[in-house]
Amino acid sequence: MKLTVDQLHITLDRTPILHNVSLEAREGDIVGLVGPNGSGKSTLLRAVYRSLRPAEGAVRIGDDDVWALSPRAAARRTGTVLQDAGGNTTGLTVTEIVALGRAPHHGLLSRDRAEDHQAVTDAVDRCGVRPFADRDYASLSGGERQRVLLARALAQNPRLLVLDELTNHLDIRARFELLDLIRATGITTLAVLHDLDLAARLCDHVVVLHEGAVVAAGPVLDVLTPKILADVFGVRARTERHGDGIIRVLYEAQPLADEEALEDDSRSEGTRPRPAPEPAREPPVGAASTSANEKG
Ligand SMILES: Nc1ncnc2c1ncn2[C@@H]1O[C@H](COP(=O)(O)OP(=O)(O)OP(=O)(O)O)[C@@H](O)[C@H]1O
Ligand SMILES: [Mg+2]
Repeated sequence: MKLTVDQLHITLDRTPILHNVSLEAREGDIVGLVGPNGSGKSTLLRAVYRSLRPAEGAVRIGDDDVWALSPRAAARRTGTVLQDAGGNTTGLTVTEIVALGRAPHHGLLSRDRAEDHQAVTDAVDRCGVRPFADRDYASLSGGERQRVLLARALAQNPRLLVLDELTNHLDIRARFELLDLIRATGITTLAVLHDLDLAARLCDHVVVLHEGAVVAAGPVLDVLTPKILADVFGVRARTERHGDGIIRVLYEAQPLADEEALEDDSRSEGTRPRPAPEPAREPPVGAASTSANEKG
């Protein structure tokens, strides 16, 4: 299903966190949300999976505002794998964790049905967690847990996947495998990724958040420009499409010195230099919220 985030404003404890954030993921698109630590990515995801009500603006899945849906109806549509996810898993096996993904499909008194069993079995196999399906979840490694949490999200049969740094604990091969798997599901996905190279390989579009505002959005090559990479991330890098069609971000060994970032900044009449002394909460001057709705 299509995801639309429309002019979102979020304030936490009287601190403005997100300003006028808009983005769009078309049906089946994988949209990467990137930005430095503290730029507001997880906060934005919370609004999308209906855990944080925005002060202003709307989140729509398909044609429905998520806050007009019941929590259960919203949960049926949206599968999540979050930062520090897992919750209280004491004593649960891997299969039991994956089966939790079926909860939004159940009425209070309903029993497990064949459909649930099939969804859990499929997700366990798809995510490669069959070898440890009967183990205590708590005994798994970080990367194994990530796979299980993705299996839980897929067992839910969601129309939208919301992923917060899914790949953090994964080894390089596992990253590629899981991203291929997500691509193969065809489910509309909004994924926070810290690894820009991975974002470039995986995503149809990327949205760059900086200090709570969208500073660029669109096809990877249009967005991850040397200027954005310098201004927002403080690194000297370029983005290229290689002969095999894969888009890669190539970094130079040294991060930009602060003075260079400042110099770049004065030339660019735009985003702020890094590192910011305090996370300022005003959008960068001249930064427009753009919507990621053109296919590249
Ligand atoms: N209750 C709160 N009151 C004030 N500020 C908050 C509150 N909760 C979060 N923040 C701040 O909001 C900002 C955005 O946080 P968020 O978790 O969305 O960042 P992020 O982009 O996901 O960062 P990371 O890459 O480190 O995960 C941070 O500066 C954080 O400290
Ligand atoms: Mg975060």
